[in-house]
Amino acid sequence: MGCLIRTDKGILAVLMGKVVLGVAVGVAVAACAVAALVVGRRVRSRKKWKRVVGVLKELEESCETTVGRLRQVVDAMAVEMHAGLASEGGSKLKMLLTFVDNLPSGSEKGNFYALDLGGTNFRVLRVELGGQRSNLDPDVEQQPIPEQLMTGRSEDLFDFIASSLHRFVGKGNDSMQSSITKELGFTFSFPVKQTSVSSGVLIKWTKAFAIKDMVGKEVAGALQQALVRKGLNMRVAVLVNDTVGTLALGRYHDADTVAAVIIGTGTNACYWERTDAIIKCQGLLTTSSGMVVNMEWGNFWSSHLPRTSYDIELDAESPNPNDQGFEKMISGMYLGDIVRRVILRMSEESDIFGPVSARLYVPFALRTPAMAAMHEDDSPELTEVARILNNILDIPDVPRKARKLVVKICDVVTRRAARLVAAGIVGILKKIGRDGSSGISGGSRSDIKMRRTAVAVEGSLYTQYTTFREYLHEALHEILGEVIARHVVINVTEDGSGTGAALLAASHSSSGSADNIQLA
Ligand code: BGC
Repeated sequence: MGCLIRTDKGILAVLMGKVVLGVAVGVAVAACAVAALVVGRRVRSRKKWKRVVGVLKELEESCETTVGRLRQVVDAMAVEMHAGLASEGGSKLKMLLTFVDNLPSGSEKGNFYALDLGGTNFRVLRVELGGQRSNLDPDVEQQPIPEQLMTGRSEDLFDFIASSLHRFVGKGNDSMQSSITKELGFTFSFPVKQTSVSSGVLIKWTKAFAIKDMVGKEVAGALQQALVRKGLNMRVAVLVNDTVGTLALGRYHDADTVAAVIIGTGTNACYWERTDAIIKCQGLLTTSSGMVVNMEWGNFWSSHLPRTSYDIELDAESPNPNDQGFEKMISGMYLGDIVRRVILRMSEESDIFGPVSARLYVPFALRTPAMAAMHEDDSPELTEVARILNNILDIPDVPRKARKLVVKICDVVTRRAARLVAAGIVGILKKIGRDGSSGISGGSRSDIKMRRTAVAVEGSLYTQYTTFREYLHEALHEILGEVIARHVVINVTEDGSGTGAALLAASHSSSGSADNIQLA
């Protein structure tokens, strides 16, 4: 029995032992549970990270621009150029006649004005030409175009333009009351079917413009009427695309300039073409051997273009689906939005960006300048990326590794864009026999006599986005090869689209050559 008799202390000890054991087991179980939770969370988060990396990988693969693929784009560009020159509607490349059959020579004299409409900003310029090729120093005034004017009535837009010009002329030394008609160059950066160097009808709007009543209407006429309403004694001497203005200024400074490219809100190129190669216009009454052709390359399309699901969605949701396909992969209006779409996909597939931000669903919430700023953020903690994600996309507290991912997305999207522009440029060079490929049979590329060839470039993506510019140059070298690439120079023109229009107004002024070509 004795052994059954326990003292209070003994009972207490036994109880204590059980309690301790119980607590220990409990702690162990809890620890296991916590560990399991942590491990589970880690496994889940690793899975999510893997999914996000998968999204990135897929993006990289579908944006792939190997030099082989770029060469296919080059060929497709040259083929489409031929087709667009052969017949009206023969290609998605419109290859529009500009009726600009001579470019400024440097002997232009006088005071000329220009209006430059087409991107995010609107510019008014005055250029004084001294008759000698010199460094032009135009007076320029720039202002953003109020958004409501881009989609309202054409009369309101042209009245706004005329008022700005009226103010600008008033500020200068020129008398507004002068009986001498001032000559004006009008840069209008949209597809226009020209009927002469100073007239043409709008085919369609691009970029953020959509003024319905203007499509199919005479553009210079609409401006001329607004000038009259404002009491301005001015004549629209030339109506030109921004690429054409850029080519004019490019040629003014460098006689080897054969083409001009704009890479800004939109993208496009023009070049000097032989008259006999413009088959669709054999009835052209011109004494000149060539003419500037506005390619409207923003609308270029080829199955060789590396297209992603994001491009397809962007296009489908745009106001102009199936249009401007090349532009939607390249220009400033769209790059930021492609990146937004990728971040949205990642955010929906994982929580690395926290709960999905409503801002990510807003089209164009991320503009290209902000995207470029993230791409070029070289701070160790990527503070600019964090700031933009927070301030613009409402995504706070993004861990560093997710910020790095965002930089990578920007890189993939920008690299593809810049390399496609390079392919487009080489496409033009190929069409006019300046890519070093003619006469290649029998000789190595290094044997070819290649003439120095200059391309004038303008637009913020090229001038203000260093990485874009570097990728473009790199791809030019890859496609052309080092030997040929050495003969191709890219010249940046400043305000070329506007200043070039003033130069063309000078060379086509009523005292000068005027409209001397037309369709037979
Ligand atoms: C327009 C072109 C213009 C280009 C660059 C495109 O959207 O269609 O006419 O040259 O943008 O401004």
